[in-house]
Amino acid sequence: MKSILDTVARWLPGTPEIAMVLGSGLGAVVDEFTDLSVLPMSDIPGFPTISVSGHAGNILFGACSGKNVLAFQGRIHMYEGHSWTEASLPAHIAAECGARILLSTNAAGGINPLLDPGDLMLIRDLVVPFPLPRRWYVPDSPAPVARTGFTGFLIDQKLADDARDVAAESGLPLRQGTYAFVSGPTYETRAEIRFLRRSGADAVGMSTLPEILTARKCGLRTIAVSAITNVASTVPEILTHEDVKDQARLLLPRFSRLLREIISNL
Ligand code: HPA
Repeated sequence: MKSILDTVARWLPGTPEIAMVLGSGLGAVVDEFTDLSVLPMSDIPGFPTISVSGHAGNILFGACSGKNVLAFQGRIHMYEGHSWTEASLPAHIAAECGARILLSTNAAGGINPLLDPGDLMLIRDLVVPFPLPRRWYVPDSPAPVARTGFTGFLIDQKLADDARDVAAESGLPLRQGTYAFVSGPTYETRAEIRFLRRSGADAVGMSTLPEILTARKCGLRTIAVSAITNVASTVPEILTHEDVKDQARLLLPRFSRLLREIISNL
């Protein structure tokens, strides 16, 4: 990991205030950035291989809403077989590069019947339904970590309040809710969706937890937004990654605008 951090730090043209991880099909958010520098992840020796389509596989540095942003256009998912540490790499890089905030974005399935495909949801809390091996949580923790109260710590509620307010002031619809992290690689069965709904989740996805948990541990403030790409509870036949990317493409202009407003206010 040290050599990866060193490579990115050597390339970095400036100091980022904010780091942003872009979810499936959401990478084009950086099209609005100015003064863009691009580092292909494949040019970084030892960097995990990103195999999922819809993730360009670049690290970018540029200006967005007047702020220096380090963006990960491509995510390292555990469902691709990567370890917790690998999936958390963007947070370690963000911390090493001096970012003070990690903004995580993802594509998610809506569980709450009030959420429609195309909605954008500010994550207020997380459900991690299954006990994770301890090494998933905090690989270098010297002691066991309490589960109780664990999720409340993950999202910076002040940043979330500010994002909610700036969206309202800008007239951009933004829902709020709880995100359930599942490991994948399969989408959920209907029974699992009912289970997650009862556990308090509004949306479900296979990312975000590793990076925001690690970011918090590294002392960064965290904020996360889901793009609802499908209705998880009524998945008609078979939900595919292509369906998710198609919906992400449709909501991308609104999503980009929301992120610009949120970033301008951070
Ligand atoms: N389930 C899990 N992950 C997802 C979904 C879903 O329905 N949609 C987008 N990512």
